[in-house]
Amino acid sequence: MTTGPEAPKIPAHIAVIMDGNGRWAKEKGLHRVRGHEEGAETVRRITRECTRLGVKRLTLYAFSSDNWKRPAHEVEFLMALLQRYLAGERREIMENRIRFRTIGRRTGLPDEVRREIDDLVEVSRTNPGMVLSLALNYGGREEIVDAARRIAEDARRGIVDPAAIDEVTFGKYLYDPGAEDPDLLIRTGGDVRVSNFLLWQISYTELWVTPVKWPDFTVELLREAIRDFSARERRFGGIADE
Ligand code: FPP
Repeated sequence: MTTGPEAPKIPAHIAVIMDGNGRWAKEKGLHRVRGHEEGAETVRRITRECTRLGVKRLTLYAFSSDNWKRPAHEVEFLMALLQRYLAGERREIMENRIRFRTIGRRTGLPDEVRREIDDLVEVSRTNPGMVLSLALNYGGREEIVDAARRIAEDARRGIVDPAAIDEVTFGKYLYDPGAEDPDLLIRTGGDVRVSNFLLWQISYTELWVTPVKWPDFTVELLREAIRDFSARERRFGGIADE
């Protein structure tokens, strides 16, 4: 990417809905799961580029709480792929000083996947580089419900005063309370919807959609999304500066 006065602003937090794996495979006469396998390669490419560009946090929607509705063999394949990815990426994550995190409900994830997650979160805990956050068994409404339930429990125990609950208090009960809201949300695969992703966090996020399916998503397209983002005026409900 260019440097100098006209260099694009790099979004601090990029979130991605990685869609189109199944269609990518079908188009080629392949089984859907081949699309996920190829999608894992794109995850590697894009993570590396985000690190290089100086992105502070990358959040990837890897498995939604609704993805359990898929055929059992596809779910099993995705879980095995995740386990393989988590084990296989350890070296790259450590070399690039990435801090690994996940968001989502832990219940339902296979023990082996949970073990790999815990291990990677722990070894990378003090890494000073980009945060890579995988949304696994994640749903935006579930996250809000889980936060509300925990606040209610704390209110019952007298730890929080219900009258004093505001957005900042609420934010502390989300899955990753330290995370800033995404600046840019990229969706591949052409559909223009948010699919229950980061509902609380995307209120002022810039959206960027491409028809390109996730396995074909490139570093050049990522740069194009960043250039578009950079040219937008973000007002957060206010008015433009004079
Ligand atoms: C959507 O494609 C994608 C998913 C449900 C899973 C995303 C998973 C990966 C990119 C690979 C594994 C992830 C990691 C982190 C290793 P889809 O199957 O819904 O595509 P379609 O809309 O064409 O059917």
